[in-house]
Amino acid sequence: MTLKIEAKPATARRSGPLKGIIRIPGDKSISHRSLMFGGLAAGETRISGLLEGEDILATGRAMQAMGAVMRKEDDVWIINGVGNGCLLEPEAPLDFGNAGTGVRLTMGLVGTYGFSAIFTGDASLRSRPMGRVLDPLRLMGAQVQAEEGDRLPVTLRGPRIPRPITYRVPMASAQVKSAVLLAGLNTPGVTTVVEPVMTRDHTEKMLAGFGAELEVDTATDGVRTISLQGQGALRGQVIDVPGDPSSTAFPLVAALLTPGSDVTIENVLMNPTRTGLLTTLIEMGADIEIIDPRQAGGEDVADLRVKASDLKGVRVPAERAPSMIDEYPVLAIAAAFAEGRTVMEGVEELRVKESDRLAAVVAGLKLNGVDCEEGPDWLTVDGVPGGKGIGASASSLAVATHLDHRIAMAFTVMGLASERPVTIDDSTMIATSFPEYMDLMSGLGAVIETVDRAA
Ligand code: S3P
Repeated sequence: MTLKIEAKPATARRSGPLKGIIRIPGDKSISHRSLMFGGLAAGETRISGLLEGEDILATGRAMQAMGAVMRKEDDVWIINGVGNGCLLEPEAPLDFGNAGTGVRLTMGLVGTYGFSAIFTGDASLRSRPMGRVLDPLRLMGAQVQAEEGDRLPVTLRGPRIPRPITYRVPMASAQVKSAVLLAGLNTPGVTTVVEPVMTRDHTEKMLAGFGAELEVDTATDGVRTISLQGQGALRGQVIDVPGDPSSTAFPLVAALLTPGSDVTIENVLMNPTRTGLLTTLIEMGADIEIIDPRQAGGEDVADLRVKASDLKGVRVPAERAPSMIDEYPVLAIAAAFAEGRTVMEGVEELRVKESDRLAAVVAGLKLNGVDCEEGPDWLTVDGVPGGKGIGASASSLAVATHLDHRIAMAFTVMGLASERPVTIDDSTMIATSFPEYMDLMSGLGAVIETVDRAA
C-alpha cells in the first residue's frame, strides 16, 4: 500500500535576485530506464548521477522484487541484473506510488512473461489511463484484469509464447512506445513500433547501448519505425545520468522572472527531444546562454546561464508539445509575467498527467489573479509584466496541487516574482522527482516557507 503522508503547504514570496551555480539531480526518464535495463541485463550495471526521487526508488523496488540485486557504493548504484527473459514472478503487488513512467514501462517489461504480476499506485496514478499500454499488450497475448476504464490496480499475466506485433502509437507518448519495445524484449521475432510524432528517444538509445538489436528508420515525413529483435542478450553498462531538463525548468524560469537574477545550471541534458521549453523561452526573449555544449555518455549536455529577462507572449505550436510536455505548467507561469498573450496549442496530453494539468494550471492562475482560458487541447495566458496585482488576495487561498509535483513547483516559482505571496496546498509530492528542490531554491535566495503540520 502507498503510505499517506500529511500534506505540507508552502508559501513563496517575492524574492531578491537569485544567484548561484547549481547542479540539478539526474534525469527522471533516464534514471527509470537505468534501473530497469540494468536490472534486466546480465552482469553489472554501474549508475552515477541517478535521481533518488520517490518515483525512481519505486521502480528500483519493483526490479528487486523480480530478481535484480542493487546496492549503492559512495555515489554509484551497482545493479546485478537477471539476464533478458529471466525476470522472476513478483510475490507481492508492485506499488509505483505516483510514477506513470515506472508503472507503464514495467507493465511493458513483464507483460510478455508467463507469470502474474499486480500493479498499483497512489490516488493520482490510479486515476490515470493504462489502456494505452494494456491494448498493445493484449495484442501480444497478455491477459489483463483492470479496474473500470483500464485503471490500476491491474493484474497482468503474459502468454506462454508472446506474439510480435507492429504497433502504431495512437498518441504522442514515449511511455507507450517504450512499453511496446520492452514487451518485445521477451518476444520471439521482431516487434515494431511506428511513431508518427517523435517523442523522447531514451529507450531506443539506451537499449542499443545495452546491446539490443534495434533499428530506427525515419521517413521523410518524420514518421519513425523502430524494429526490435526479441530475445537477444543484454549486457550491463556504465551510465552517467545527466541533469534533468524538466527539473531544470523550475529554477531556470524562477531566475528569468526574479529581477536581477543570474544563475548557472550545470550539466543539463540537451537531447533535442527535451529542449522545447528552451526554444520557447528564447523566442519569448529569455536571456539564456548555452555554455560548453558537449557529449557525455551518449547524450548532449550543456551548462545554462540564465539572467532575469523581460518576456513577451508567443504562440507555442502543437508540433513542439512532445519536446516540452512536462514543462507547460512552468511555461504558463513564465507567460503570466510576459507582455501580451501566450497561446499553447496541441496540449491535450496534459489532461492525463499526474493531474489534469490544464485544469490545475488554470485554477491556480485564476486564484492568483491571472487571466487565462483553457480549451480541450489549448491554453492561453495573458501576462502582467512585473507581476503587479498577482498573488493570492488572502493568505488562506492555496493552489490545489492534486498530488502533482510539477503543479506544486510551478506555483512556488510564481510566488517569487508576484506582488503578493502564492501558497500551494501541499509540497510533499515534489520529492517524487526533485527531493532537493526547496534547499536548492533557498540556496539561490528564493523565499519559500513550508508548514509542517505534523511537527
Ligand atoms: C516520459 C514520457 C512522458 C513524460 C513523462 C516521462 C518517459 O509521458 O510526460 O514525465 O520517461 O517516457 P508520455 O509518454 O505519457 O507523454
